[in-house]
Amino acid sequence: MPELRVGERRLVVEPASNLLDALHGGGIAVPYSCRAGSCHACLVRCVRGEPLDAKPDALDESRREQGWRLACQCRVVDDLQIEVFDPLRDGLPARIDSCTWLSAQVLRLRLLPQQALRYRAGQHLVLWSESGVARPYSLASLPGEDPWLEFHLDCRLSGAFSDAARQFKPGDSVRLGELRGGALHYDADWQTRPLWLLAAGTGLAPLYAVLREALRQDHRGAIRVIHLAHDRTEHYLADALAALAASHAQLQIELLSAAELPAALAELRLVSRQTLALLCGHPDSVETFARRLYLAGLPRSQVFADVFLPHAR
Ligand SMILES: Cc1cc2nc3c(=O)[nH]c(=O)nc-3n(C[C@H](O)[C@H](O)[C@H](O)COP(=O)(O)OP(=O)(O)OC[C@H]3O[C@@H](n4cnc5c(N)ncnc54)[C@H](O)[C@@H]3O)c2cc1C
Ligand code: FES
Repeated sequence: MPELRVGERRLVVEPASNLLDALHGGGIAVPYSCRAGSCHACLVRCVRGEPLDAKPDALDESRREQGWRLACQCRVVDDLQIEVFDPLRDGLPARIDSCTWLSAQVLRLRLLPQQALRYRAGQHLVLWSESGVARPYSLASLPGEDPWLEFHLDCRLSGAFSDAARQFKPGDSVRLGELRGGALHYDADWQTRPLWLLAAGTGLAPLYAVLREALRQDHRGAIRVIHLAHDRTEHYLADALAALAASHAQLQIELLSAAELPAALAELRLVSRQTLALLCGHPDSVETFARRLYLAGLPRSQVFADVFLPHAR
């Protein structure tokens, strides 16, 4: 049976055990969120031995060369020695610049990292609270323009990170973990094509960054933003979006409540086969958007989606 070493701890585990489960089974607290290779909350570093990795492409080559792996995607097939991600040693320190409620449920967090962080619109980061809770959140700020890193946290339901975030105050510290890009981005080649940005809840955060990136790059095609919220009071960026629309004639904003969604989606018609769609939010909403776009005739290759997978139980 393979031996799993973590610091001074030695665990004997069943062959082909899931690495994250084996660590938890041995009482070693490795954080996780999605269990799907998406959030990167479960990073561990292999210092000796190699696990069987189901998603090697989920990490970039330089991270892999340093030995980093996603514990949720690995199986222990041989003796293995690992180090867990230590936010104090491996994370980037950041100070909370401001925490502002944009609606009853959405908290805007602005962070000032101790060192400049290079990122692009549409990426997300793992945030670590002081108490060691790690969760992925999307960047809503515009790289190179906003001096802070901005996040929009859905605090509607109680959760380990949301509960900690409600208590945050300016000056508090957080740590930044892995920076990652999903499907959402803006490509300079898209400049003349119609762009649809469909967001549910705080799925608006990365799309707001992509929208501002598109406008910064003088996007000339029509841009349509649809924001779905539980009710009208939760269109938390309504004013900011209206201000952008007032100064950009190509931008159209539609704010929909859950009750209005079915009728609005039924009306959705493609005006151009060149349309590109970027979707983000809860998996159910993203699936609903994607299905409707497919029925409207938009090829899957023109749809880019990131889902906010909730914490796996
Ligand atoms: C790539 C990515 C980017 C993301 N970006 C954002 C973003 O920008 N903004 C954002 O708001 N979210 C985002 N999310 C989602 C966010 O990371 C998750 O919702 C995260 O789980 C919230 O952490 P939490 O600690 O507050 O809640 P968790 O403790 O993780 O709980 C998650 C949910 O499960 C419920 N829950 C808790 N315990 C139980 C239980 N025992 N049984 C059943 N349900 C329970 C909670 O009420 C909560 O709603 C993103 C997710 C991913 C994967
Ligand atoms: S990538 Fe492993 S828990 Fe999300």
